[in-house]
Amino acid sequence: MAGSEALRAQAERLRSDIERHNHLYYVEAKPELSDYDFDLLLNRLVQLEREHPELLTPDSPTQRVGGTVTKEFPSVEHREPMLSLANTYSIGEVEEFVGRLNRLLEAEGSQGRDTVAELKFDGVAVSLLYRDGLLIRGATRGDGRRGDDITVNLKTVPSIPLRLRDFDGPFSVHEGREVEVRGEVLMRKDDFDALNDTRPEEDRFANPRNATAGTLKLQDSGEVARRSLWFAAYYVSGLHNEDTPHSERLKLLETAGFSTGGQYRLCHGLEEIEAFVQFWDEGRRTLPYETDGVVVKLNDVRQWRLLGATSKSPRWAIAYKYPASRATTVLRDIVFQVGRLGTITPVAELDPVHIAGSTVSRSTLHNFDEMQRLGVMPGDRVVIEKSGEVIPKVIRVLFEDRPPGLSAKELPTRCPECGTPLVRPEGEVSWYCPNEEGCGAQIRGRVLHFASRNAMDIENLGESLVEQLVAKGMVKDPGDLYLLRKEELAGLERMGEKSAQNLVQGLLKSREQSFARLLFGLGIRHVGRATARELAKAYPSMEVLQEAGFEELSEVPDIGPVIARSICDWFLKPSAPVLIEKLQRAGLQLAAEEPKPLVNTNFEGLTVVFTGGLHRHDRSSAAELVVARGGSVVSTVSKKTGLVVAGKEAGSKLEKAQKLGLRIITEDEFESLL
Ligand code: IVH
Repeated sequence: MAGSEALRAQAERLRSDIERHNHLYYVEAKPELSDYDFDLLLNRLVQLEREHPELLTPDSPTQRVGGTVTKEFPSVEHREPMLSLANTYSIGEVEEFVGRLNRLLEAEGSQGRDTVAELKFDGVAVSLLYRDGLLIRGATRGDGRRGDDITVNLKTVPSIPLRLRDFDGPFSVHEGREVEVRGEVLMRKDDFDALNDTRPEEDRFANPRNATAGTLKLQDSGEVARRSLWFAAYYVSGLHNEDTPHSERLKLLETAGFSTGGQYRLCHGLEEIEAFVQFWDEGRRTLPYETDGVVVKLNDVRQWRLLGATSKSPRWAIAYKYPASRATTVLRDIVFQVGRLGTITPVAELDPVHIAGSTVSRSTLHNFDEMQRLGVMPGDRVVIEKSGEVIPKVIRVLFEDRPPGLSAKELPTRCPECGTPLVRPEGEVSWYCPNEEGCGAQIRGRVLHFASRNAMDIENLGESLVEQLVAKGMVKDPGDLYLLRKEELAGLERMGEKSAQNLVQGLLKSREQSFARLLFGLGIRHVGRATARELAKAYPSMEVLQEAGFEELSEVPDIGPVIARSICDWFLKPSAPVLIEKLQRAGLQLAAEEPKPLVNTNFEGLTVVFTGGLHRHDRSSAAELVVARGGSVVSTVSKKTGLVVAGKEAGSKLEKAQKLGLRIITEDEFESLL
């Protein structure tokens, strides 16, 4: 049919346009379209594929949004083992490496001693397998021989081509042959900061590498897509011409649609390597992602085969790692802080010292075990290290410099704030003050968290004011803030008429804050901003949320058993209903905003359960579609369920629905019902 041919051509054109703009944006960093126009293009393709599912191809950019949920990643064997690299911190050893190469190659009578110097990306290594130009598998390094098949997650990474460009051109391979590309998945520093910003303090990632590793392991590929990872390629095998030198391979990778980061250099001799190393020692601070060194590789790939590898690493490459920035200073004292969740954290007070661009005067010692491992005493000279962008830490005591007469800081057995004996829950490294209700430090922490910028954003409520309010017993929980009268406030230290008025105003204004912000403000363990938003979407009011049991909560996207348990525990505390009632009386938003006008009433009064994998929508947007049409979505099948949408590989819920004789439809039928 001519019509269907035209549609196919249209879909093809949209796909190649979208991939081109994708590449311009993520690989070349030279976008030609605004985000809005890009979304328009993508939406047109989504629409077209929805109306004509036969047009959908595995390399369609619409497949990048994720949405599939994987319970466990299958283990797969690598075509060739993923080795690591010999590491060194000494430029002298790089010199020896180059010398060794020269001797070995001389003995073999080989020419061609050029090397390629590249940046060593500090992320997570993965292997990508392409067959006939199409991405068919992506896996983690694992133990080097076998890794996890995380294809669904890697497909969401915009700088990983789903299909190689110019596949028949310079990147030519035999037909049916597989090409393997290896490289590093990274998270940009700014994306890392933004991600951590949405997470509760207790769950923040220490650095972008950990955040990347954690993201690649997520079961919900939709969430992986939202976290915008990046991929840098540094190795390819299976090329048609096996002798293509490494520097040309990197160029071929770029032609095929990958990013190599672009910062490599063909070096003729040690001097040029050293210049590269020196340049990037400072230069890497300006890069958007983290690098921890330089990799030097022999350029002539034929010689790779001659040199071979040890059991751990190839003999034709070496990694030079930059030393982390360090400084020494005197640790004056150790203080014990009590967090809003009762955690006791030892904090080192240091003589201020300048390190990699900032002055440091405090540093966390994490927990008592870490304090003892370091063996540190107040008065000791210590080494502070700042690696990458992370907060500096005390890594070692200079015992040889220890002045006489020092003694260890005694570990508290009681809360430094309220005197309650500390406890250490089984399997945890931290000690806690169990006096949740009465410990001033915990109350202050909860109130300050509730008022913080990302929660209720209450202006004019600073630390010293909260301290007074809690000490005087005027505030026992965040709900009490709303009972404060201007006259009372004006009488407090450093307050006065004007500031009291401002605070009352600030409190009034905070009543407008969304339900999601309020949920975040409650300070439930493990519930950060992102989780609070998901919760508010799935449970549009405090009342329904309170009713949700553990099982049901664990099925909300991104929630999982640990967070679900923590939410249930929070609602079981005797203080919870008291606080909720105070907040309700104060007129805060205990429910999500008024629902938008309905698109249609096709699902009116219908309770819908989704089960199995959906391929057109992710769960939360499917749920939104139902709600926008008058229905509601729950996660467990019961007699009251009106409709079950069964996707791919639906399991026990489908069985239960069949037993109950419920109405069951396919995803396609769901689509037409919309
Ligand atoms: S080449 C057989 N090049 O560093 C080839 N690795 O410490 C081995 N890495 O496992 C890898 N940047 O994850 C290579 N430009 C680069 C790299 C790089 C980072 C990682 C890689 C490897 C680890 C070894």
